[in-house]
Amino acid sequence: MKLTDYTTLGRSGLRVSPLALGTMTFGTDWGWGADEAACRDLFDYYVDAGGNFIDTADGYTSGKSEELVGKFVAERKLRDRVVVATKFSFNAEAGNPNAGGNGRKNIRRALEGSLRRLGMDYVDVYYLHAWDQVTPVQEVLTTLNDLVREGKVLHVGLSDVPAWYAARYQTLADEHLKEPIVALQLEYSLVERNIEREHVPLARELGMSIVPWSPLASGFLSGKYQRPTEGSTGVGEGRLQTLKDSGNPGFAKFSARNWDILDALTAVARELGKPPAEVALSWVVGRAGVGSTLIGATKRAQLESNVAALSIDIPEEHRARLDDASKLDVVHPYMFFAEPFTSMLSGGTALRGFR
Ligand SMILES: NC(=O)c1ccc[n+]([C@@H]2O[C@H](COP(=O)([O-])OP(=O)(O)OC[C@H]3O[C@@H](n4cnc5c(N)ncnc54)[C@H](OP(=O)(O)O)[C@@H]3O)[C@@H](O)[C@H]2O)c1
Repeated sequence: MKLTDYTTLGRSGLRVSPLALGTMTFGTDWGWGADEAACRDLFDYYVDAGGNFIDTADGYTSGKSEELVGKFVAERKLRDRVVVATKFSFNAEAGNPNAGGNGRKNIRRALEGSLRRLGMDYVDVYYLHAWDQVTPVQEVLTTLNDLVREGKVLHVGLSDVPAWYAARYQTLADEHLKEPIVALQLEYSLVERNIEREHVPLARELGMSIVPWSPLASGFLSGKYQRPTEGSTGVGEGRLQTLKDSGNPGFAKFSARNWDILDALTAVARELGKPPAEVALSWVVGRAGVGSTLIGATKRAQLESNVAALSIDIPEEHRARLDDASKLDVVHPYMFFAEPFTSMLSGGTALRGFR
């Protein structure tokens, strides 16, 4: 596969690269990103290699990420060629409940801010960044639908939402001929496969592409961090080292289970003669339902390696070992959708259905 093997995002006519450039590392405000010159280099490398899908958010690096994306796109006069996605939900003003969340007032405030920082008059994909637990789905749907009608947004997506919420949204949109969800942006990697229980089947059934984030588990799956042994703390250089005491569960990757998965990945990568990061990324790209996978980088060499991952074809035997090392626990009710229950339902006949 190549970066120029464009595919439609969900059931839409928007065609995107199999790898999207994540820009959460654009800007140094959070202490683990890259400066402007390094970001320009990452952007140039990605678009020159044929990539067309750029992902940012209003809150990334306090707005700096959107500003840099807008600047680079304008400098290279690429607005018609690139697909720019951004997001709303996170609060921008402490103490002001309507400067965050998914209510109509915040969505409109957030979009105006994003367009200003990007220096654009529309965004290609506008994501709800995370479920706020209170706003009715109808309010989000009608607001986003209006923004599409107004030409400020071309397509809409959801990120970090429960599957039931996405199902309800899409069903209402389909029933009432409103703008559908084309992408579900969720964490997905060898160490985080929980979306396979609900979100992946939902996305395939209702016409959304899965857009995985943190496919390398914030760099953990590159193998550059060392498992702690007696007398050592297990360190490495990078985001996870910087954030190891942050208390943010999204960055708590140094668990016994994850070290075991990394061991299996490292062994497979060694046999294939490839870096673990490339094998881990290739595994995500090849999963059912995945449309375009978000990659992040602080250095050009990382990005080059990530793009090279597209050319890897993991042999079946190695893929099975990775699947097995990272498999989800069998829990209720999902245990009913595997053997021995499948045969008990089908009377032993092969279970084939329309797909
Ligand atoms: N919707 C959401 O809630 C959400 C959440 C998170 C991210 N995202 C999106 O997803 C994008 C990607 O997420 P992510 O940055 O967490 O992805 P990731 O691929 O899991 O991690 C990327 C980081 O890993 C390290 N790295 C990358 N390639 C490497 C390589 N080949 N060798 C060694 N280290 C390597 C770099 O960090 P160091 O150099 O610091 O080690 C890089 O910044 C983000 O930019 C953002 O657009 C969305």
